[in-house]
Amino acid sequence: MPAIKFYDHEPIPMEMHKVKIVQQLNLLPADQRLEKMRKAWFNTFKLHNVDIFMDMLTDSGVNAMSDKMLASMMMPDDAYAGSESFYRMRAKLRQIFGMKYCLPAHQGRACENILADRFVKPGNCVIMNYHFTTAKAHITRVGGHVEELVKDEGLIPKSDLPFKGDIDLEKLEACIEREGADNVAFMRLEAGTNLIGGQPVSVDNFKDACAIARKHGILTVLDASLLQDNLYFIKVRDESRKDMSVRDITREIADQFDIIYFSARKFGFARGGAIMIRDKALFHSMEDLITMYEGFLTYGGMSVREMEAMTVGFDESMEMDVISQGPLFIQHCVDKLDEYGVPMITPGGGLGAHVDAMQFVSHIPQDQYPAGALTCAMYLCGGIRGMERGTLSEERNPDGSERFASMELVRLALPRRVFTLSQVEYVIDRVKWLYDHRELVGGLRFVHEPATLRFFTGKLEPVDDWPERLIAAYKAEFGEDQ
Ligand code: F0G
Repeated sequence: MPAIKFYDHEPIPMEMHKVKIVQQLNLLPADQRLEKMRKAWFNTFKLHNVDIFMDMLTDSGVNAMSDKMLASMMMPDDAYAGSESFYRMRAKLRQIFGMKYCLPAHQGRACENILADRFVKPGNCVIMNYHFTTAKAHITRVGGHVEELVKDEGLIPKSDLPFKGDIDLEKLEACIEREGADNVAFMRLEAGTNLIGGQPVSVDNFKDACAIARKHGILTVLDASLLQDNLYFIKVRDESRKDMSVRDITREIADQFDIIYFSARKFGFARGGAIMIRDKALFHSMEDLITMYEGFLTYGGMSVREMEAMTVGFDESMEMDVISQGPLFIQHCVDKLDEYGVPMITPGGGLGAHVDAMQFVSHIPQDQYPAGALTCAMYLCGGIRGMERGTLSEERNPDGSERFASMELVRLALPRRVFTLSQVEYVIDRVKWLYDHRELVGGLRFVHEPATLRFFTGKLEPVDDWPERLIAAYKAEFGEDQ
């Protein structure tokens, strides 16, 4: 269906679906939110969902399912071994990606665990356009290291580059030269590059990078968790591919890779994951890891119901009316905040709207976690739960010093097909207010700091009484009950 035109004004993002099941929301009064934030140790992962008004933590496992997905869940084939639900899922993935072999896993990081376990030896390097937290944690756990070779422009917050997730081909050649091809375990390219703002990779870049890797005999791996957003951006930003179908673009990308893995909590709108493999011997070399860590080869830790749902979800991910929803709402949010002067990552990417915390709260030093502090402030000022994507989400250097992230972002995720435009407008409004009162936001420090993936479970506290002062200003503006 074409983009909907309006008689009276410019087009706005349109929901191309209707809502059939709802979940009631709860907006706690400001004082109670402060209490809840304290109890959650100033870590938005520790908040209870019932205390949140707009849950924009992630798009993972919380996307709205379609009627067809739900219907499919009523007809699974329950079996430990040989379930038809698995064979249906595999057939769909074969059709979409053109790869024969499929290993199921319970979610994306489980695939990452298996790839790291199988391919990465101590001292090895894994090349990426940019890392993802769990992918990197698995690689470093087995003694490998990650080289991030995204183009420099990808890390410039404000830009109009259409494909900010592209890997730098010169850096790629130089890295292979420096490390030696034999020491590169694999090259992992991430579609819809998560940690730099859900930014897409162009088809040409996928092709060129994989050609270089192939020339050096390096295994190529695509993380397709955010492929659906990336496909949308290729359709609308790559002039040379605007007339290709989403399916054909998908195949053009998939054909470059030896292995494709994904989190079906994102790709497929359900909960699960899988590794698709082109080569038979490679497939067999990973089988035992699935049976050891995940489950039998025909469920891999997933419920048969989820496999049925994602099989339908994969097909929906090939439809523009479906995959355009997230990016269009995100673009609306980014444009309105950017117009107001709020520092945003531009152009809008997939997954969510990303606020540039380094600029927003430039008075907070990086070792006091500006993005973490701003994330907490957004919960205090409106019950909006976002996710820190900055230094807190990094791990310390081996000598214990902080590894400062190249970008300090607050991610306001837009789970697919979940929020309406008025809810997005509410978020825009509260972020504007917070921007006008940004000097009231202060830093955070750790009270308890886990060594690995500290952002999930770490406990923090404010450096002074800034949350109280922020809440007082908020109540003066909006009243006690908001
Ligand atoms: N790869 C990418 C690009 C991801 O965004 C994620 C998860 C994973 C792999 C891991 O998948 O969660 O199923 O184990 N991203 C979530 C997020 C957690 O909130 O961005 P998983």
